[in-house]
Amino acid sequence: MDKEDFSDNFSRPDERKVPGWQYDETKLCGAKFEREEYVDGYDEHHQRFRDYKKEAEEGIEMLALDLQSTLIDMGCGTGAFAINAASRLGKIYAVDVSRAMLKCACKKAKEADIKNIEFYHGGFLTYKHRAEPVDAVVSTLVSHHLPDFWKLIALKRLTQMLKTDGKLLLFDVVFSFDPANYESFITGYIESMAERMGDEMEKELETHFRREFSTFGWIMEGLLEKAGFIIEKADYREGFFATYLCTKKA
Ligand SMILES: C[S@@+](CC[C@H](N)C(=O)[O-])C[C@H]1O[C@@H](n2cnc3c(N)ncnc32)[C@H](O)[C@@H]1O
Repeated sequence: MDKEDFSDNFSRPDERKVPGWQYDETKLCGAKFEREEYVDGYDEHHQRFRDYKKEAEEGIEMLALDLQSTLIDMGCGTGAFAINAASRLGKIYAVDVSRAMLKCACKKAKEADIKNIEFYHGGFLTYKHRAEPVDAVVSTLVSHHLPDFWKLIALKRLTQMLKTDGKLLLFDVVFSFDPANYESFITGYIESMAERMGDEMEKELETHFRREFSTFGWIMEGLLEKAGFIIEKADYREGFFATYLCTKKA
């Protein structure tokens, strides 16, 4: 696509006069989401271990959404959730800090003739939701890009975009392994994933542990509660992933 046709709802730090102390969420901490080769290979790589359609269907069921529902997909990436959920929802606001990921998602939506997704360049800390508060927010594999203090600010900002009783479905790399055995857990996990998925996954996981901001489940639960959510369900998998279904506190 020559022309970017997603709405530019993003205020750059200089325009918004963001204080010098604010975390710059555009400087991504790990994976190369602005590199075109990475973005081009993203879906193929992820669909080796994910089923986008099933994830979207399960998410919609968990959130009890229907054709009238509105939703923000925060950190939409190439549209794994938004594109696969679009036919079952009223309106989706798909937001990402990476223009390259957004471009890819936008192109896929156009090709599939999807008309109920609005794409916005922005993020947890900078996206301004100007429409009516939404029924739900989904965020998949994104929150680990923010250090913990900024995760809390991000989650608090999400509560302001949600209706009363609005829901959040957050899935991410969140640790539940025993920190006493962190070396053996990390080495073993990376080895087993590398065996199944190859060298690329090994490098990605090494970078994840070294540079990104995944945290422990007990911290994440505290952050969600402090931000103003009631945790309805928390599922931990493999010591490495977590899914939280939350409702905004009245
Ligand atoms: C691993 S991808 C996940 C994409 C998509 N949600 C999925 O399930 O495939 C992480 C995405 O989060 C975006 N991202 C990173 N930091 C962000 C932030 N602070 N706010 C919004 N998006 C962010 C990246 O640009 C990237 O598209």
